[in-house]
Amino acid sequence: MFKKLRNKKKSQPGELTYDLNAQNIPKHVAIIMDGNGRWAKQRNLPRVKGHYQGMQTVKTVTKEAGKLGIKYLTLYAFSTENWSRPQDEINYIMNLPVNFLNTFLPELIENNIKVETIGFMQGLPESTVEAIEKAKRETAQNTGLTLIFAINYGGRAEIVHTVKEVCKKVQANELNIEDINETSFGDHLMTSRFPDPELLIRTSGEERLSNFLIWQLSYSEFVFNDKLWPDFDGEALNACIKIYQSRQRRFGGL
Ligand code: FPP
Repeated sequence: MFKKLRNKKKSQPGELTYDLNAQNIPKHVAIIMDGNGRWAKQRNLPRVKGHYQGMQTVKTVTKEAGKLGIKYLTLYAFSTENWSRPQDEINYIMNLPVNFLNTFLPELIENNIKVETIGFMQGLPESTVEAIEKAKRETAQNTGLTLIFAINYGGRAEIVHTVKEVCKKVQANELNIEDINETSFGDHLMTSRFPDPELLIRTSGEERLSNFLIWQLSYSEFVFNDKLWPDFDGEALNACIKIYQSRQRRFGGL
């Protein structure tokens, strides 16, 4: 018999109960947080209001992920392609980590959550980098959920960067070409400290990878949820995990 993890919520009419198998909670969940702009548009609000509300959802989902026993949560906050957005919107998104950490860092510490990032930090404004570095320092000893923000991140750019790192090691005679394999290559990726995600969630009904973790998601289960990111919540996360638990993962075998 599986040990059941009961999670009762009353946020819907009636009472929704998710019976999740506590033995099969994904260790690493990655999320493409999509739909902020559409959420704002539906309300005749500027797009940035959608991003603000999206930041609030990050808080809710992070807390729920910690409660469920997920060990790593990677959130796609800003892609290498998002620089083509209007400058005002870019400035707003770049300030979100500052706002998020100003208001939420004490709770992250209290909940034993560790903050990490992947992406090209050198391309970010100084205030953003400072806020993130502070959060990393102050949560470095935490042993619960690791919350990983993908900022200025792109999967192809990451692979090109990694190829260069590996080539430099070969040039310096620190690595033999014969020793380049999936494991040693993976050890040079930005995600080398984390296991590959078992589950990818994308919100807003879109079904694309958008250059997110293209190496790491090779064998992950994809769950697409129709909710716009600002409307996503703990219950929706439970529902996605319930779908994950109904899948059979075969990794190319039978
Ligand atoms: C995609 O929605 C969302 C983004 C590009 C930004 C995501 C950022 C957040 C959710 C906030 C992150 C919070 C922290 C703390 C870093 P979209 O704008 O593409 O929406 P649309 O497809 O409806 O236009």
